[in-house]
Amino acid sequence: MMGRMAQALLVKIGGSLREAGELLDELAGYPGPLVLVHGGGPRIGEWLARMGFETRFQRGLRVTPPDQMELVEMVLTTLGKELAAGLSRRGRPTVALSGRDGLMLQARVVDEALGRVGEVERVRATLLEQMLQAGVTPLVAPIGLDEVGPLNINADTAAGAVAGALGLPAVFLTDVEGVLRDPKDPSSRLPVLSRAEVRVLMDQGVISGGMIPKVEAALNALARGAPWAAVAKGGPGVLQGLLEGTLGTRLLG
Ligand SMILES: Nc1ncnc2c1ncn2[C@@H]1O[C@H](COP(=O)(O)OP(=O)(O)OP(=O)(O)O)[C@@H](O)[C@H]1O
Ligand SMILES: [Mg+2]
Repeated sequence: MMGRMAQALLVKIGGSLREAGELLDELAGYPGPLVLVHGGGPRIGEWLARMGFETRFQRGLRVTPPDQMELVEMVLTTLGKELAAGLSRRGRPTVALSGRDGLMLQARVVDEALGRVGEVERVRATLLEQMLQAGVTPLVAPIGLDEVGPLNINADTAAGAVAGALGLPAVFLTDVEGVLRDPKDPSSRLPVLSRAEVRVLMDQGVISGGMIPKVEAALNALARGAPWAAVAKGGPGVLQGLLEGTLGTRLLG
């Protein structure tokens, strides 16, 4: 039962989620503290195309040439402001910030071939803890920084790192019911997945594209101290369903 003492959660909001209103209702209504991390893939893709840039992905990561980084950051941070306003309007005071604020997400370049794509080296979680203590919900855009400037961090990667640093359960809300045995069949949800099973499914190509960084982030969160991690479809009742274990895919470290 979710009561007054509802558990604090780290929730990653997928940029692919379309019915944002329903999801914001769900998040705003959750009775416990939340730390939120959001993606923005589709919106970034639309803006890059509008500005005449080509995009390609490698293992689910958006290749980010340095001259696209400013636009990526602009789109993500604007999206964060919209989501934060939507949550605040629904009665959950939320502040949008990015991983550059307070030097929260210290990162390094993953691979020069991907451009300004970062992986998290260190999370400075103090600012987030202070916001929670103040009754404010932090909503983090997945931008990190190195000594050169901002880095584009996959939102799942960022969320996993933050969940680990704060020791919070990591919930990845996306546009599919969980990890599917057949990505074309929504009823083929795998309720539980071990690290070894993840490896097999990746080798088989069953877990592909954007699901790769997601399950890797979930396993990483577990390895760094998150008590549990799960992937599920964002929508009404999803958080309760995850807490009860009736929805989504739980990853086992
Ligand atoms: N085995 C699988 N089961 C479920 N989905 C899979 C699987 N393999 C690949 N996918 C893909 O992963 C997608 C989810 O990742 P995606 O990166 O597109 O969304 P997101 O992470 O929620 O959004 P964003 O990247 O904007 O934050 C699904 O829509 C699906 O196409
Ligand atoms: Mg994604």
